[in-house]
Amino acid sequence: MAFSERFLDELISRSDIVDVVGGYVQLTKKSGSNLFGLCPFHSEKTPSFSVSQDKQIYHCFGCGKGGSSINFIMEMENLSFPEAVAFLAKKYGMEVPDDSPDEYKGKRTRMLQLNKDAARFFYDNLKKPVGGSAVEYIAKRGISKELVVRFGLGAAPDSWNSLYDAMKSRGYSAEEMLDAGLIKKGRNGGFYDTFRNRLVFPVIDVRGSVIGFSGRILGDGEPKYLNSPDTVVFKKSKNLFGLNLAKKSKMGMIILVEGNIDVVSLHQAGIDCAVASLGTSLTPDQARLISRYTDNAVICYDSDNAGVKAAQRAIDILEKTGLTVKVLQVPGAKDPDEFIREKGPDAFKLLLERSENHIEYRIMAIRKKFDLDINEDRLAFLNEATELLSTLPNAIEREIYGSRVAELSGVTPEAVAAEVKKAYRKRVKAEKTKFERNSVRPNVTAQPMDKSLRYENVGSAAAEEGVIRLLLLDPSLISKTRELSRSDFTSDYLGRAFEEIGKRLSAGGSVSIPVLSESLSAEEIGSLTGIVQKPEAMGNYEQAMGDYINKIKTEKLKKDLNAAALRYRETKGYGDKYGK
Ligand code: CTP
Ligand code: MN
Repeated sequence: MAFSERFLDELISRSDIVDVVGGYVQLTKKSGSNLFGLCPFHSEKTPSFSVSQDKQIYHCFGCGKGGSSINFIMEMENLSFPEAVAFLAKKYGMEVPDDSPDEYKGKRTRMLQLNKDAARFFYDNLKKPVGGSAVEYIAKRGISKELVVRFGLGAAPDSWNSLYDAMKSRGYSAEEMLDAGLIKKGRNGGFYDTFRNRLVFPVIDVRGSVIGFSGRILGDGEPKYLNSPDTVVFKKSKNLFGLNLAKKSKMGMIILVEGNIDVVSLHQAGIDCAVASLGTSLTPDQARLISRYTDNAVICYDSDNAGVKAAQRAIDILEKTGLTVKVLQVPGAKDPDEFIREKGPDAFKLLLERSENHIEYRIMAIRKKFDLDINEDRLAFLNEATELLSTLPNAIEREIYGSRVAELSGVTPEAVAAEVKKAYRKRVKAEKTKFERNSVRPNVTAQPMDKSLRYENVGSAAAEEGVIRLLLLDPSLISKTRELSRSDFTSDYLGRAFEEIGKRLSAGGSVSIPVLSESLSAEEIGSLTGIVQKPEAMGNYEQAMGDYINKIKTEKLKKDLNAAALRYRETKGYGDKYGK
C-alpha cells in the first residue's frame, strides 16, 4: 500500500528541496538556476553536487546520486521511504494519514514493540535460574550491574523455545517473530529460538528503539557472535552497537572497537564513546553515521593480523567522509578490554591522548613490509610511501610526512618532496578529467554511473532515456506513447519507470521524481535524476517523442532480425552438415 497521492503532493510542495538539502549542505548559486555544494555522499574538493529548485531534485555529477527531498532524507538519515516521508511530514508540520503503508504503520511499529518485549524477556532472565550461566559469564568478564542495566544486557536461556513461548503468550504470531529474526523454522515445520544459551546485547538505534540483537557465546566456541538478520527495522550495515550511548558522549570523538564486550568494557572505564560494527567490516554508511556525531574517529581494533587489516580498510572509509582518523594500538594486549583489565582506565586514556595519527600509522605499516637496509627494498618503500603521501589533501601534511619518509629511507627531504609533487599532480589531473567527463559533457556519458544499471544497447537506451525525460517534462505526451510498452525497453529499470509513469497518469495522478521514488531503488532514482538533468536536445517535444519511439522500435527490429538470422544460420549449418 502506498501513501495517497494527495498527501505526497502536499508533502513534496512543503518540503522544498533547497530547504531540505540546505539543512545539511552549504549551497551556493553558481550557474543558471542550479545551486551547488560539496556532495555529502562522497568526498570531493570541488562542488559537483547540484540542486535544482525548478525540478525539485538534487544530483551529483561526481558520484551519480540523486533524487527528490524524500530520497535525500532516506540517504542522509538512513531511513526507508515511508520513514523519510514521516520524517519530513513531522518537520513540515503534517500529519501522516491513517491509510499510509503497512510497512510504516503496522509492521515496523509492531516489530519494534516485539523487539522491546524480547529485550525485556532476556533482561528478566538474568534474575532467574535460567539466566544463571549468563550471570556467571558477566561476572567473569567483570561487567558491573550498572553497565548491565545501561546496555540492557540479557540472557537467552539454553532452550529451544523459551522466547517463542514467552512472546506467543504476549500475542505475537510465529510469522512476526520470524520476520524479526527472533526464531527460525525447523525441518519438521516447527520453530526454534535464534538466540540460545548466549549473552544478549540489544542493538539500540540513535532514536532509542531496539532494532535487533547480538548474542555472544558464553565462553569459547563458534560462532562467537550471532546477530539478528536484516529486517524491516534492522540493517547491519547501517547501524553501530553502542551509538545510542556514544552519541551523547562529551569526549569529542568516537572510538571504533571490534567486540561488543570491548564496547561495554570501555564504557565501564568511563570511555563512553566506544562503538562496534555488527559483524561486518566497517561500511561507508556506518562511517557517515559516525560523522554526524563527531569529527574525530579513533580505530582501536584487536592487535591480531585480522585487526590490523580491518583497521587499514576502516581508515580509508572514515577518511572519505572527512573525519580526522587516528589509530590506537594497545601494546601487550589482544584488545582494549584486556588492556583495561590489566593496566586500568587511566593507562588507556593516556594511550588515547597519544594515539597515532593515521598517516604515521600507515607509513609504519608500509615500512614493515620492507627491509630498509636493502637498496631495492628502500626504493620500493619510497614508491609506496610517496603514493600514499600524494593522497593527502593538505600541503603541510605532505611536507611533514615527506620528511618523515625521507628520514626513514635515508634520502633528502627535497627528493621525496619532488616525487610526492609529481604523484600529487598526476592524481589531481586524473580527478579533474574524471569530473569533466561526468559533468561538462553529460550527454556523452552513455552509461549510468551505477554498474548494476549498465545498458546493453546504448543506442536504444539513449532513446529510452529521451522518452522518460520528455514524459517528466510534459506528461501529456503519454498519449503519443500508445504503441510503446515496457517490453520494448532494453533497460529494465527504464521500462519499469515507463510502466509506472503510465499507470500513474492513467489513474489521473501526477508524475515527478519524488512520486516515482517510492517504486524505484536509490541507484535507479539517482540515474533517473541524471537523465532529467540532461538538456533535451530537441526543441519540439512532440516530434522528439516520435523520433525516440522510432529509434526504440528500429533497434528492437534490428535485434529481432539478428536473432532470426542467427537461428536461420544455425539451422542451415545443421542442414549442411547432416542434411544432404
Ligand atoms: N562480531 C560479530 N558481531 C558483533 C560484534 C562482533 O560478528 N555484533 C565479530 C567481529 O567482526 C570480530 C569479532 O566478532 O571479528 C569481535 O570479536 P572480539 O573483539 O574478539 O569480541 P569480544 O566480545 O570482545 O571477545 P573477547 O572477549 O574474546 O575479546
Ligand atoms: Mn574483544
